[in-house]
Amino acid sequence: MIHNTYASRLNVRYSFYVMLIAMLIPTFAVADEGMWIPMLLSKNEAAMQKAGMRISAKDIYDINNACLKDAVVLFGSGCTGEYVSDQGLLLTNHHCGYSFIVRHSTVANDYLTHGFWAASREQELPCPGLTVTRLVRMDDVTEQVLKGVGKDDDENTRSNKIDENMANIIKERTAGTHYKAVIKPFYYGNQYFIYINEVFTDVRLVGAPPSNIGKFGGDTDNWMWPRHTGDFSMFRVYADKEGKPADYSKDNVPYRPLKHMTISLKGVDEDDFTFVFGYPGTTKRYVTHDEVDLAANGTNPIRIALRDIRLKHYKNAMEQSSKQRLRYASKVASIANGWKKWQGESLGIERLEGVAQKKEQERQFRMWASDKPEYAKVLDELEQNYSKLRPVETEWTYFNEGIMASDFMNRTYKLWRVLRDTQFDDSLAHEQCERLIAENERFFNDFDTHSPTDRAIFVETALYVWKAGQLSFLDKKYHGEAAVRKFFEELYDNSILNNKDKYNKFLRSYRTKNYTKVVSGGVPAVDFFNVAYANAYTSDKRDIHTSARNNINRLMRTYIKGQMAMYPDSNFFPDANLTLRVTYGHVKGFEPADGVYYKPYTTLDGIIQKENPDIYDYVVEPRLKELYRSKDYGRYANAKGEMPVAFIATNHTTGGNSGSPVLNADGQLIGINFDRCWEGTMSDLLFDPNYCRNISLDIRYCLFVIDKYAGAKHLVDEMTIVQ
Ligand code: ARG
Ligand code: GLU
Repeated sequence: MIHNTYASRLNVRYSFYVMLIAMLIPTFAVADEGMWIPMLLSKNEAAMQKAGMRISAKDIYDINNACLKDAVVLFGSGCTGEYVSDQGLLLTNHHCGYSFIVRHSTVANDYLTHGFWAASREQELPCPGLTVTRLVRMDDVTEQVLKGVGKDDDENTRSNKIDENMANIIKERTAGTHYKAVIKPFYYGNQYFIYINEVFTDVRLVGAPPSNIGKFGGDTDNWMWPRHTGDFSMFRVYADKEGKPADYSKDNVPYRPLKHMTISLKGVDEDDFTFVFGYPGTTKRYVTHDEVDLAANGTNPIRIALRDIRLKHYKNAMEQSSKQRLRYASKVASIANGWKKWQGESLGIERLEGVAQKKEQERQFRMWASDKPEYAKVLDELEQNYSKLRPVETEWTYFNEGIMASDFMNRTYKLWRVLRDTQFDDSLAHEQCERLIAENERFFNDFDTHSPTDRAIFVETALYVWKAGQLSFLDKKYHGEAAVRKFFEELYDNSILNNKDKYNKFLRSYRTKNYTKVVSGGVPAVDFFNVAYANAYTSDKRDIHTSARNNINRLMRTYIKGQMAMYPDSNFFPDANLTLRVTYGHVKGFEPADGVYYKPYTTLDGIIQKENPDIYDYVVEPRLKELYRSKDYGRYANAKGEMPVAFIATNHTTGGNSGSPVLNADGQLIGINFDRCWEGTMSDLLFDPNYCRNISLDIRYCLFVIDKYAGAKHLVDEMTIVQ
């Protein structure tokens, strides 16, 4: 679909290669692939040292001594951060700190646009709701978690027993401490680890570059190489006088971490060893061809096509005024992020012939398993469950990405829920209606300007869903595309939800005795939503989906156990599950297409080349240009006198690794992970060392921006820097 000819050209070249690896190598063990468990890193130590590492596994994870683990934290609930001073100073990505920077920004003090640098501790800005989590230790608790679980227990019995065991273990392991603990399943529940954590709640914003550094290239460059984004922000963790976590208080003091990063200004060259230490969120490495096919050819194309429509209309609007640009900026950023990633993922799976590759592995497994009763039927049963799952998952994707695409339908959904949940309680209904009236006050502020955009999005996405045969209940009344389109247009134009006075009047006079009338035609938008929802989410479909997913999880537990038994000498890494992992690889360029070679690093020269004062994403601050002209890079320049900005390497990372420290062979900080190259985003399912690259901010550009650009040298002075 996308880059059709390009992809099929590559296919010819790759089918041979793919068949070859499929025959020779089982489902793992591709160079540089893997997200390893820090506690078990001694198993990887030899390989890491062979790859160039000069420190030991114990320098990375050790429960008896301060080690690198103590300098790495879970930032919020989906990013990573690292301590860079003995005063609790923390580095993470700009896009990870984004919402906190936004929250402190006003029109008068627009930190998002212009940047923010606390000149003193007093100026650091509290961020309620933001947590920073340090792993104290982890342990294998498989035996305790599975105690009393019978081999033939059904999934419900099993999971109840496991939940009970886990609660007891957590209680026992945290009693009398200020620690919090979580237990996570590995290999689909073949193994369990407990994570004992220390959770800090007083975290303050210390510094952020202006958006045109921290988000330089915006969504245009997102997921792309060559990249020039200064994607970092700085926070400080505060604790009570004993150094224990405490909620915000004036009396809190900067936290003194057990360990902070040593920063190296030496930089890296192509082929140098690097590793990334952080919190990858989700991967699906061991799934069968059905799951790969469902993503690549089932749900991804639907999501991409429906987001194409939304993005086209938002972008049109954003080009019209800076007011519209601001309104849609963060919405577009999040829609575009998944949209672009899924395109890279589907293309990558196609290029690798991922479905065929998985089928070949399954063929081998079937042969091996044919005389082993425990495993012999597992793949057939997985296939049966996927065939039940797929139509439901497809339909729900249309609903969530299509019907729910517009503000109009989101607001209709809100109203529908209020009406449904308050059916039997007039005073609750009244209270909730008042809340919607208050929301309307904000929403209708400038409704006239955004209504055409939202109308177009509603009509086009709904029509797309109808064309896919998903809204066939309309066909009884409306015949053909023109009639359906007219129905959607009129639904929008005549809806009370798109008229402030009428909508408020409705909300004020609503009584629960009118409920049935309202949902069955009284308010046509609610009626439409109600029917579409009822069609997509019947209890039948819910049951099918839940039972198929439960079965798949149970069967995957067996399948992966079988794969491990089939290849007993291999080190299987567990899928990412937002627990601390180490991944390692080498700085390396790559060939994204025939005749094109991507160098492994970028410089400030590229920012100047990309500069375009007319395009928001490519505006360059005068001050940065000045520094470029005078080549005033200080000690942050590389050996060639260039100002390095970003680099790529073969580390296996995923969402959640944002903000992760990127370290050199000596365990010194050389960069901050912030993205992947989109040609390799299929690495959540299939890793290909020829294409999979993580993108890191060069720590020297980060320090240059803090020191030379922002003049916040006091922050750099706190850090431990080696030349
Ligand atoms: N692609 C990166 C990640 O997956 C960065 C996203 C934020 N940046 C953006 N331009 N939307 O999360
Ligand atoms: N930007 C991503 C994040 O927020 C990291 C990129 C990736 O998915 O590898 O975690």
